[in-house]
Amino acid sequence: VTTLQTLGKNIPGLVFFSDERNHASIIEGIRGCKNEKKIFRHNDVGHLEELLKTVPSDKPKLIVFESVYSMSGTISPVKTIAELAKKYNALTYVDEVHGVGLYGKTGAGILEQEDQQHSIDILNGTLSKAVGVFGGYIAASAIIIDFIRSFGSGFIFTTSLPPAICAAANKSIQFIQQNNQLRKHFFENVKQLRTAFDNNGIEFKSNDSHITIIPMEDATRCRQIANQLLEKHGVYLQPINYPTVPVGEECLRIIITARHLPKHINHLAYSLKKILHGDNQTDWKEFPAVALAD
Ligand SMILES: Cc1ncc(COP(=O)(O)O)c(C=O)c1O
Repeated sequence: VTTLQTLGKNIPGLVFFSDERNHASIIEGIRGCKNEKKIFRHNDVGHLEELLKTVPSDKPKLIVFESVYSMSGTISPVKTIAELAKKYNALTYVDEVHGVGLYGKTGAGILEQEDQQHSIDILNGTLSKAVGVFGGYIAASAIIIDFIRSFGSGFIFTTSLPPAICAAANKSIQFIQQNNQLRKHFFENVKQLRTAFDNNGIEFKSNDSHITIIPMEDATRCRQIANQLLEKHGVYLQPINYPTVPVGEECLRIIITARHLPKHINHLAYSLKKILHGDNQTDWKEFPAVALAD
């Protein structure tokens, strides 16, 4: 919020170009400064270019998007967006909150994986999620960082993070940088989860990220299935309903961890199968993993 608001309030005439699926924190930041904004269709670079063409080249512009979209699991075409930014004289801002820790050789995110770290002006990440602590950061050139630190009221008028939190985040980042093996295992788990779903006839949306989406397309059904999962099978999946997603796109969203074991994956697949397809299979000897997960 602070970075976008600060840029909007302090760069006269700045026009925002924002992906329609951007996170609420981005939307709040853009709303907070009342600059002109143009919303492009999700990951639609053709539409983005059409909109960029409508603004004179000497007018300041900022393209704002995410690398991994948390509610659909889609990954943005970072390289193409960066090329468009260059062509139309725009700055770029990418939210890597769902990429940090998981993608790239050292876990820096999608930009590292796609070798695009040099082509984006401002990146924001979190010290929660994969880092497992608290707080957030932006990475940019020294001049942009100095600008945000000097004018960002959301940064200036709040207490800084306590040393213990910073130390924990520091340790966690070191761990992330040095444990590529854990990242590989994490993605093997994602693959295993999807294979288990395929084997049990559980439909999910395919994407290139680690976020697995099971469409529900109805808020009541979504909540009911989540409740049954918890009450009957001891699995907690948060139902994702409006306003987090548009009406009709209600879903169950699964982000597995590197620590989940095959028995946990099988337990989830089995539980979902029972709820979604009314499978009467109750012989738990047939599902040793389920028995173990209990
Ligand atoms: C895309 C995106 N950006 C930013 C945030 C905020 O992250 P944090 O709560 O770690 O500050 C979230 C949190 O859900 C998010 O999904």
